[in-house]
Amino acid sequence: MKIKDIIILALLLAVITGCSEKKDPVEQKIDQLISQMTLKEKIGQMNQLTGIGMADDMTNAVRNGDVGSILNEIDAVTVNKLQKIAVEESRLKIPLIFARDVIHGYKTIFPIPLGQAASWNPAVAESGARVAAEEASSVGIRWTFAPMIDISRDPRWGRIAESCGEDPYLTSVIGAAMVKGFQGDTLSAPGSIAACAKHFVGYGASESGKDYNTTWIPELQLREVYFPPFQAAIEAGAATFMCSFNDINGVPASGSTFLNRQVLRKEWKYDGVLVSDWGSIEQMIPHGFCADLKEAGEKAAIAGVDIDMMGYAYINHLEELVKSGAVNEKLIDEAVRNILRLKFRLGLFENPYVKEQGRDAFYTESSLQKAKDAAIESVVLLKNDNDVLPLSNNIKSVAVVGPLSDSQADQLGTWCFDAEPEHSVTPLTAIRNDYGTQVRVIAEEGLTYSRDKNANGISKAVAAARNADVILFFAGEEAVLSGEARSRADISLPGKQMEMLAALKQTGKPVVMIVMAGRPLTIEKEVEMADAVLYAFHGGTMAGPALADLIFGKAIPSGKLPVTMPRMVGQVPVYYSHKMTGRPAQNITLIDDIEVGAKQTSIGFTSYHLDAGDSPLFPFGYGLSYTTFKYGDVKLSATALGMNDELTATCDITNTGNYTASEVVQLYIRDKVGSLVRPVKELKGFDKVQVEAGQTKTISFTITANDLAFWHEDMAKRPEAGDFTLWIATDSSSGTSVDFTLR
Ligand code: NOJ
Repeated sequence: MKIKDIIILALLLAVITGCSEKKDPVEQKIDQLISQMTLKEKIGQMNQLTGIGMADDMTNAVRNGDVGSILNEIDAVTVNKLQKIAVEESRLKIPLIFARDVIHGYKTIFPIPLGQAASWNPAVAESGARVAAEEASSVGIRWTFAPMIDISRDPRWGRIAESCGEDPYLTSVIGAAMVKGFQGDTLSAPGSIAACAKHFVGYGASESGKDYNTTWIPELQLREVYFPPFQAAIEAGAATFMCSFNDINGVPASGSTFLNRQVLRKEWKYDGVLVSDWGSIEQMIPHGFCADLKEAGEKAAIAGVDIDMMGYAYINHLEELVKSGAVNEKLIDEAVRNILRLKFRLGLFENPYVKEQGRDAFYTESSLQKAKDAAIESVVLLKNDNDVLPLSNNIKSVAVVGPLSDSQADQLGTWCFDAEPEHSVTPLTAIRNDYGTQVRVIAEEGLTYSRDKNANGISKAVAAARNADVILFFAGEEAVLSGEARSRADISLPGKQMEMLAALKQTGKPVVMIVMAGRPLTIEKEVEMADAVLYAFHGGTMAGPALADLIFGKAIPSGKLPVTMPRMVGQVPVYYSHKMTGRPAQNITLIDDIEVGAKQTSIGFTSYHLDAGDSPLFPFGYGLSYTTFKYGDVKLSATALGMNDELTATCDITNTGNYTASEVVQLYIRDKVGSLVRPVKELKGFDKVQVEAGQTKTISFTITANDLAFWHEDMAKRPEAGDFTLWIATDSSSGTSVDFTLR
C-alpha cells in the first residue's frame, strides 16, 4: 500500500471513529456553552441562593451570572422577572432553576411521607408527588428537594416524619415511586419537576436521634442499608441528589470524596446534579473539618458537590482556589456540565418562563380526592377490640374530643411551607359534614393543643363523652414537634393526653383513639386503655374526611407500619431487621416477675431488656383490617435454587371476614448461615391486594440468587450457597416459614 493510500485509510478510519463517538446533541451544546464561559460564570452556576426577601437584591447577581439556581421564590411574577433577566440580560442567557422543598404537597397536602409509606402502595406515593409537582410547577418551581429516603430507625429523630421508615426495600420502592411522580415521563413536560434524592447519606443514623448529630456507619452497612434507596432513585431517574448534614465516620457528607466521587459518580455512574444541603459546605467549619470558608469550598469542590446551597463558599472562594491550583478547573467544568445538563433536561432553554395561571392548579377536585385516598391508605389499625370499628348503626352519638380533633394546621404535619391550613378538613368538620345526619356529634376538645398541660378542659370533654355512645379521642403531636431539628428524647404522648384518655376511659364508654403524629410514639399504656386505635400519622389536607370514612366503615384500613413501634424509648434503635445474636431471647423474665433476692444466675442469660422484653409494641409491617385474612401454607416451586434459577413462592390468602378489603402481603427471608452474621429477617417483596369477602387469592413472589446476595468484607455483593428460611406473612413477626437451599 502506498503512503497516500495509508493516509486516506487513516483519515477514513478517523471519520468513522469520530462518527461512532459522536456526542449526544445536548452534551455538544453543553460543551459549546462551557467553552464560552468565564471561570466566574461557571462558578455562578454552582451558586444557589434563597429568594426569600432577596429577590430584588438578586437582580444584579442574576444579570452578572453569579447565581445559577434560586430556592424559595414562589411568586410566578417574580420567577418570570428574574428569569427574564437571566435569559435576556445575562451574557450567556443561561436560564435559572427555581427550587423549593415540596415534600408531601405544595398546596394540597398529602400525608407525611412516613404516612405515605404506611400505605405500602407505590401508586399512592406517585400520585402524591405528581399532584405536588403539578401545583408547584404552576408557580415556576421546577426542582423539589424530595424524596427524603434516609433509612430511619430512630423515632426520636424528628425527620423520621419525612422518611419512608426503617426498611431499605420499602424505602426504595416508595422513594422510586415519588421520583416518578415528581418527574413524570418527561422532565421537560409541563407539570414535571426535578426530584432530589436526599440526604446522601446516613443522616437517619444521627446518634441518639438528635438532628445533625454525628454518625458511625461501617461501609458494609452503608452499602447494605443506607445506599439501596439511593440506587433505586437513580434507576427511577432522579435528576438530582443532596448531601446530608452529618459526618459519616468523621467526614462530613459535603466533603466526602468517597461518597460523592467514588460511589456516586464512579460506581453508580450518576450524571445528575449533586447539591449541598443548606449551608452544609460552610458548616464543615463548625464540624471542625475545615478551618475557614475557603477550605470548605476547596474540600466540597474536590469532593464533587456541584452546587453550594446558601454556603457562599464557592462564590467567594472558588475562583481564587482554581487560580492558585488548589482546585483543578476540570472539576469545575464537570460540575457545570451536570448543572447545565439538568437545565437542558428540564427544557428551560426552550421554555424558561412559567405561565402565570393564578390558583387554578391548586386544590382541584381530583387532587383533593387523591389526597383523601392517600390519607385513607396511610392509616394503620393497631387495635380493634370487640370490633368497635367501624362504628355500628346502633351508634347514635359520638363525642369528638382531643387536641387533634379540629386542628387544621397540625394535621398537615411538618415540611409544608406553602400549605394553607384553612383548606384542611379536620376530623370534626368531616364527621359533622359527612355523618352529621347519621349521628349526633358532641364536640369538646378537652386540651387545646398536644402539649397542653392545663387539665381544666378535660372534665368538660368527659362530661361530653358521658352523653355519647362512643368516644373518638384524637390524640397525637402538633406538627411542630416533628421534622427538621425537632428531635425528642421522650416520645410519649405530650402534655396531659394520657390523663385525658384515662378520664375518658372512666366513663365506661368505648374509646377509639386516633393518633396523628409525625413519628411512632410510645403509647403502650394508651393502647391498653383504648378499645380501638387508628395510627394516622399527619394525614394532610384531607385527613378528616379520610378518618371519618374509616371510622364509619365507608373505607377499610389497609395501612401497615413502615417502622417498628417501640414500647419504650430505651428500646431504640429497635427495627425488625436486626442481626441474629449469639443468645437470642429465651424464657423472658420481666422485671416485676423477678423474685426478691433472686440469684444472678436464676433468670438466664439471653438478649432482652428486663423491663421491655424482646418485642416492640407493634412490629414493622403490622396493621389490622376490619376483615380477617387467613394465610395458607407457603408453597415453593422447588426446595433448591440454582445460582441462575428462579424460585416461586406462593401462598393463598383468604378473606375470612365480612368486608372486601386490601391486604399487604409481605415476603421475608433469612439467610440461616452466612460468612457474615445476617439479619433475622429481610423484606424482599410485598404486594397490596384487594380480596373480596370470602374470596381466596393466590399470591406469588419470584426469588433469584441476586435477591439473596449481600455485601461482603471485600465490598463485593454476592449470594452465598446455603440454607434459607422464607415467610409470606401479614407482618414481620408472624407467619409460618418454609426452608430452601441455594446451590
Ligand atoms: C435543609 C434540609 O435538611 C433539606 O432537607 C432542605 O431541602 C433544605 N434545608 C432546603 O430547604
